[in-house]
Amino acid sequence: MCGIVGYIGKNRADQIVIEALKRLEYRGYDSAGVAIGDGQRIRIIKKKGKVDDLKRLIDKDELSGTIGIGHTRWATHGVPSDRNAHPFRAHDIVVVHNGIIENHLEIKERLKKKGYRFQSDTDTEVIPNLILYYTREGFDLVGAVRRAVKDLKGSYALAILREKERILVGVRHESPLLIGVGDGEYFIASDAPALISKTNRFIFLEDGDIAVLTDDGVRILDRNGENVEREIREVNWTPMMAEKGGFKHFMLKEIYEQPSSISDTILGRILEEKGEIHFEELEEMPLSRIRKFWMVACGTSYHACLIGKYIFERNLKIPVEVDLASEFRYREPPVRKGDFLILISQSGETADTIAAMREGKKRGAYTLSICNVLGSTLSRETDSTIFTRAGPEIGVASTKAFTTQIAVLFMLMLFFASRMKTKEKKEIKKMISELKKIPHKVNEVLEGGAKIEEMSKKYMYYKNFLYLGRGINFPTVLEGALKLKEISYIHAEGYAAGEMKHGPIALIDERMPVLCLSPGDSTYSKMCSNIEEVISRQGKVILITDMDSHGMAKKVEDVFVVPKTIYELQPIVSVIPLQLFAYHIANFLGTDVDQPRNLAKSVTVE
Ligand code: G6P
Repeated sequence: MCGIVGYIGKNRADQIVIEALKRLEYRGYDSAGVAIGDGQRIRIIKKKGKVDDLKRLIDKDELSGTIGIGHTRWATHGVPSDRNAHPFRAHDIVVVHNGIIENHLEIKERLKKKGYRFQSDTDTEVIPNLILYYTREGFDLVGAVRRAVKDLKGSYALAILREKERILVGVRHESPLLIGVGDGEYFIASDAPALISKTNRFIFLEDGDIAVLTDDGVRILDRNGENVEREIREVNWTPMMAEKGGFKHFMLKEIYEQPSSISDTILGRILEEKGEIHFEELEEMPLSRIRKFWMVACGTSYHACLIGKYIFERNLKIPVEVDLASEFRYREPPVRKGDFLILISQSGETADTIAAMREGKKRGAYTLSICNVLGSTLSRETDSTIFTRAGPEIGVASTKAFTTQIAVLFMLMLFFASRMKTKEKKEIKKMISELKKIPHKVNEVLEGGAKIEEMSKKYMYYKNFLYLGRGINFPTVLEGALKLKEISYIHAEGYAAGEMKHGPIALIDERMPVLCLSPGDSTYSKMCSNIEEVISRQGKVILITDMDSHGMAKKVEDVFVVPKTIYELQPIVSVIPLQLFAYHIANFLGTDVDQPRNLAKSVTVE
């Protein structure tokens, strides 16, 4: 997963591909590679590390040719290494891939039986082999690609070359891919910024499209194999705008990426027929009786732990103790052999979380990390790791990592529930089907984003905010308040609504906006009373609810309605308006949204 580029024309492909890869560097990656064709051979150079390291190798090697593909990799299957870097070759077929092939193990087994051999730990390697298989069956390159993609399940954007052929093939399926149209030369890229210095004319491919680029032009086949016309669009983005996909800040782009990052995180982990959750990463995990879970993290990841506690305890009936990593290691936690310690970290490099993991290990716990970065310290040192597949998160304030962490915790609960038989199969199936609807529901919230933007204007000059929620939405409001603090520098406090009477109520007057999360669940009537209490003290209530007619809707200042889902998944849907609210206030105030003062993306000191 990360960046794809491709070129066919009259100029040196290695230089063009490297320049385009450099332009994708801002997204983060762990390895890079190119494949360049000189009409006869295709040569591949790939390496763990930076594009500059790759460039030095290429310069030494005098790689020349006028057709080529390249890739920057953000590992999802297999650690970052030279061996797992793209491109991948199977005889004369060479491929780079973004996305996830859900059924790669199945395809691998099928091909192994036919004598195909694999060298890497990636899911991608099955693709060139599958295409090769079909060319050997008599299909030409495009025919073989068409045939191969029919076998693939998952998400993929591909760029494909074949030795001795001057054709560059691109495929798009639930992972972006576009064509750049130049003057007698054509490009492929996963993202416009890769090509912005070469052309401003793009064809944005649609799902299922196969693009065939030759020296004479671009032909596009739709998913049925019919030739289709796709409009060439001129975009006038500056390189900075292009990097952010047209969004003003990375944070906003990442908020809007959540439907796809959640989809990617779920992908391949649901065994539909069995009604079970499957984690490839946990195949080796011994499952003895678990006495107790611990969940430990920092910052936003800590809020995911708090939500995890509600999800786990309610469904598994096993106690979960949640700790801030910086507290855990110094308080002599009574962790014992047989305890299960879950560490959550987007980066996998947060010093306190790593120290807590080592402390837990020393005390005999089994350690499992939930991380977004393959090869990170935490993922290397824990007994096992589940990777969220949020993709690179660049904005310092975490958004898409958080919602994918909750999705993983929910799936992990279901995984344990079936193994421990604490839930009926049909209940698990129902919960899985709710999970599958989440990306769509998040999208629905995002579509209503303009309303939140409008609301933000009204509240941007207030100096203090209170965020109230109950149950599983208590941690959600902690996260909402943290977002506002982090990027707008406005003081905001998240509180369990039931605790309001024990202190914060003293603060409420007409200068105190109070954001209340109040879904139509068992906390409804209690939340209504809390809202009444705020209103009667002239506090300004912003209500976020999943009810079309909430009892307090007419009395409060503003209302935003989110789609309904099950209790355990509510935080994913409810946190989106809170992220947007914080973002728009910060944007209006003109703060440095992506790099707020005094904050770091990854805190590697204790
Ligand atoms: C920093 C970041 C936060 C993040 C926290 C934990 O404070 O600014 O956004 O939540 O670290 O990071 P981790 O990578 O461990 O999730």
